[in-house]
Amino acid sequence: MIRTILIHPDPRLKKLCEPVAEITPELRQLAADMLETMYDAPGVGLAAPQVGVTKRLIVMDCIKDGTPEPMALFNPQILWSSEDQSVYEEGCLSIPDIYNDITRPTAVQVRWMDVDGKVQERQFAGLWATCVQHEIDHLNGKLFIDYLGPLKRQMITRKMEKLKREMARE
Ligand code: NI
Repeated sequence: MIRTILIHPDPRLKKLCEPVAEITPELRQLAADMLETMYDAPGVGLAAPQVGVTKRLIVMDCIKDGTPEPMALFNPQILWSSEDQSVYEEGCLSIPDIYNDITRPTAVQVRWMDVDGKVQERQFAGLWATCVQHEIDHLNGKLFIDYLGPLKRQMITRKMEKLKREMARE
């Protein structure tokens, strides 16, 4: 089922999300719905708070051409970040049509629990590294525009408020 993606500003996007204790059928369904919602958007990553659920769950698939690699990560934790940094033009499904260069570590080591409740660990690099860091930020109530200066952030927030008013009228 495709879920509605919240648009910034929304208080639910600013919350610290709660860890998942065990994978219930509801959470497995949520992960499946989030992947469906992400592919439909389309996007390469989505975090649970973006569909109004303040739980520590993210989904992603950074394969643009080729065999899809859908991933669902519960309680993702960054264990290590490279000193090397990379710049990527980031966007966010909760901030449509806004893109900005953001600097982040080039590679990160991440541990998480998969849909079967098994602990996984992997090093992400390139777009995957950017994506996983962007999505984990969501679980801590942080958006990519929080890396920008206050004036730029305010300008984007106003634009989104206007967009939400227009969407509400339709
Ligand atoms: Ni985002």
